Amino acid sequence: MRVIILTCYPEMFPGSLGYSVIGNALVNNKFSLEIINLHDFGIDKRGSVDDEPFGGGPGMVIRPDVIEKALNSIIFKTQKSCKIFLTPSGQKLSQAKLNILSKYEEMLVLCGRFEGVDQRAIEILGFQEISIGDYVLSGGEIAAQVLVEGCIRLIPGVLGHPQSLLEESFSNNLLEYPHYTRPKVWEDNQGNKHEVPDVLISGHHEKIDKWRNERSLEKTKFLRPDLLKKENKNE
Ligand SMILES: C[S@@+](CC[C@H](N)C(=O)[O-])C[C@H]1O[C@@H](n2cnc3c(N)ncnc32)[C@H](O)[C@@H]1O
Repeated sequence: MRVIILTCYPEMFPGSLGYSVIGNALVNNKFSLEIINLHDFGIDKRGSVDDEPFGGGPGMVIRPDVIEKALNSIIFKTQKSCKIFLTPSGQKLSQAKLNILSKYEEMLVLCGRFEGVDQRAIEILGFQEISIGDYVLSGGEIAAQVLVEGCIRLIPGVLGHPQSLLEESFSNNLLEYPHYTRPKVWEDNQGNKHEVPDVLISGHHEKIDKWRNERSLEKTKFLRPDLLKKENKNE
């Protein structure tokens, strides 16, 4: 996948995208990352990209002509491309949405700042509006890294153990079961001993699967009952 980021803060990239599994995917050309500085397309010598909102109110808004100029500098190489504007007022990102987006060959991500971006640019230039959650950050750069990382790890060959994608939280509208590792008995600072559940060291795979399914359901019911309602709706 070719990922193109439009941002006022190019130095924030690759950021988290340069580390671990995703960093390896970048080095191994599973995806490419192009960072475009919106200030290079600013309206004056200082590279200004924003102006005051019509109708009044606090903050500044990124101008549509600046976004258009930046977009015109990009040559899309395929038909399978999408343009995303990250905004808290967009459609909430989900694992299902990441699955769809990860199939695109080119993804352009516009990071907002200040109060956001002139709505005409969003509509006329064909951006999908996506939010990474019901809260407000100061800019779209962290959100872009969340979105891109979520997509890239779904590309075949990126994860060492593709099986883990099938069992992860949200794959069946369930949260994943809990994990345990060594030591088998952990003694905490107070001298209390905590054992790993017996079934996990029984070597009995059917029983382990059953235990994991039960824990998964139990955890979902307790923390995210809304996911179970979704599952019923899908049936
Ligand atoms: C301070 S926010 C603007 C908030 C906007 N005035 C509103 O109330 O919806 C500045 C930029 O941060 C990014 N941003 C903040 N929260 C976000 C979220 N939850 N999801 C995606 N992007 C977000 C967007 O790019 C946004 O344009």
